[in-house]
Amino acid sequence: MFSASLLNPQSPQTVAISALFTNVLVVALIVFLTVAGLVVYNIVRYRAKPGAREPQQRFGSKPLEVLWTVVPLLIVAVLFVTTVRTMAAVDAPRQPDQAPDLIVTGHQWWWEAHYSNGAATAGEIHIPAGRRLLVQIDSADVIHDFWVPQLARKMDAVPGLSGYIWLQANTPGIYQGSCAEFCGAQHAWMRFVVVAEPEADFSAWMNRQSEPAQAPAEGAAADGARLFQTKQCGDCHAILGTAALGRNGPDLTHVASRKSLGSGIDTNDPATLARWIGDPQSAKPGNHMPDSHLTSPEAQAVLAYLETLK
Ligand code: CUA
Repeated sequence: MFSASLLNPQSPQTVAISALFTNVLVVALIVFLTVAGLVVYNIVRYRAKPGAREPQQRFGSKPLEVLWTVVPLLIVAVLFVTTVRTMAAVDAPRQPDQAPDLIVTGHQWWWEAHYSNGAATAGEIHIPAGRRLLVQIDSADVIHDFWVPQLARKMDAVPGLSGYIWLQANTPGIYQGSCAEFCGAQHAWMRFVVVAEPEADFSAWMNRQSEPAQAPAEGAAADGARLFQTKQCGDCHAILGTAALGRNGPDLTHVASRKSLGSGIDTNDPATLARWIGDPQSAKPGNHMPDSHLTSPEAQAVLAYLETLK
């Protein structure tokens, strides 16, 4: 499922980073080939012949000293300037004078995204293709690292310190992201997707996601909605429009509309969701969701309820 290519940049920011990488690689390759070539040439050309005396020694050639001081200095200066220029073109301001378009928070072990209109999601970030968004990166617990290789630079998620990046995709598509800083047992399953879509689809999605959940009128789903409140699910999970306001776990207001569960560990289908409700530790060992000890009919009802939250 994870197939993000580092060498296939899809935003102006990553195209600039990729160009810098290529330029540095070419310069380094020229330096390497020159030095290695001269070493090999001298080894072959000036080998000690049998019976030869020690060759004449030379010290203190001023032109040579100047040459191998100035040339490396120029090379490093050029690399320095191109790097700083790329950083200036790619990085968001450290203290932006505009409000972020969305706030992404790293948790052990999932990513939360909050949009300015109140929409909240987990493991799946939608952006408008062709327009850059200012993203604030926070952490709720330990240090994580937000990374979408094709779209943006890495940014550490540090508790108590907000970082900012530009997030942009040139064309619509689904881009893979991950946590790039070891953060505990399930660090490897702290993945997410960025869904870039046309502007109209994006605003429709954002409006839909900000709407409160519809309360089911009757049947198993209605039982599930009641159980969700009485079994304290709402202590950790929020469902907009209900009494559930928890912020420790993913917002579930529109959980059924998401592509995957458990930060990419599995596709979002009733079987996966049933496993999370019935035995969270088998779904993703070590995660912070406790077992609610639901009976089988109770678990079925909660599943029926969550499946209505499109
Ligand atoms: Cu979060 Cu690694």
